[in-house]
Amino acid sequence: MNIEEIRKVASPNVQIASQSHESKKLNLVAPEKSCDFSYAIKNDFPILKNQNIAYLDNGATTQKPVQVINAINEFYKKYNANPHRGAYRLSVEATEAYENTRAKVAKFINAKNAQEIIFSKNATESLNLLAYSYGMENLKKDDEIVISIMEHHSNLVPWQKVTKAIGAKLKYMYINNEFEISDKEIEEKITNKTKIVGITHVSNALGTINDVKKIIKYAHKKGAIVIVDASQSIPHMRIDVQDLDADFLIFSGHKMLAPLGVGVLYGKRELLNKMTPFLMGGDMIEYVYEQDTTFASLPNKFEAGTQNAEGVIGLGSAIDYIENLGYDTIQQIEKEVVDYAIDELSKLDYLELYVTPNRENHSSVISFNMKGVHPHDIASILDSNGVCVRSGNHCAQPLMRYLGIDSTCRASFNFYNTKEDVDRLINALNKAYNMFKKYIERN
Ligand code: ALA
Repeated sequence: MNIEEIRKVASPNVQIASQSHESKKLNLVAPEKSCDFSYAIKNDFPILKNQNIAYLDNGATTQKPVQVINAINEFYKKYNANPHRGAYRLSVEATEAYENTRAKVAKFINAKNAQEIIFSKNATESLNLLAYSYGMENLKKDDEIVISIMEHHSNLVPWQKVTKAIGAKLKYMYINNEFEISDKEIEEKITNKTKIVGITHVSNALGTINDVKKIIKYAHKKGAIVIVDASQSIPHMRIDVQDLDADFLIFSGHKMLAPLGVGVLYGKRELLNKMTPFLMGGDMIEYVYEQDTTFASLPNKFEAGTQNAEGVIGLGSAIDYIENLGYDTIQQIEKEVVDYAIDELSKLDYLELYVTPNRENHSSVISFNMKGVHPHDIASILDSNGVCVRSGNHCAQPLMRYLGIDSTCRASFNFYNTKEDVDRLINALNKAYNMFKKYIERN
């Protein structure tokens, strides 16, 4: 599909069904200097429009479009009140916007029921909820939890806590030389002793796309439930929890255009119903007596205390934006730009790339190292050239150790990135190499 055809798919005149208030339009007017659709999209993102940067740290958080920023402003300007707390008009409006977003999230990931959507602070909180409310309550001594070596610490440290407390065992599925988990590894590690499998859909450090549907099917045969961390996949591909048959699936809003501080836990209703709440306090109760409490039904029993209503409303607007652009368009743009980035980075023989050779199994993250130079030094030089990448262990220390390295630089892409962003990255890397060349050659 050429740019003109993509334009027709993501028509600039598509109306966004926004939060219960006004509809908005995507502001997709291409600047005259370019025919690249991504340039037009950048106009929707104030930071990208107004600052001369190549923002390549989308795995950490994405920039926010003006539609999301406006939705948050509108909430505070027009109907700010505490959802679920008041019988007066403003509180009812805030409650409606909050609950409409829950229904929107359910539809977005094809959950059977909006009650299966729990709002949290972020993916980490969603996973801690599962560790405490499911893991601690359902595991026995000598049971096994299986995760992959490429998990983010948030889908790893909570399971260490659970297994240590219960006397259960934490096992790992390791990756092969192609940074993928083989079928043999899945079948060896997931056994009749496995009660929980925790698996990231896309590795935040390597970009590998795991075949979670296959893992879920196999785990179910062995009687285990599966928790999918979709934080790095949902910005880039459609998630269908029923098609995956995921028992639980979690993600953060801020990696998919929404504000910081809002996350989602999806769970099958029958499982969530059996679990006891993670946090205790206001609004998660039914009746409270001096010594005892009965809990509210789903989803409230997992949403104690005043919630991040602006975050939830912003998440609703982010979903509108993604749906209007469409995952087909998103994938088309990202594939072109990420393929170009891999091709260009592969030409730099001073770089070590950590990318699966199977491009179909690779998402929008590219990790690399300049041989002999610390990634933080590279990231600082890239920054002085207007290129934003993350450097460090990416909250995946066991993975780094397994790969025999401490850290990497990571360029992570979103649909608003262009080939020009890639060119800036390459130019800045060449500058960095020229600065370090003598030192690298000496060592
Ligand atoms: N989990 C985020 C990342 O991978 C912060 O950068």
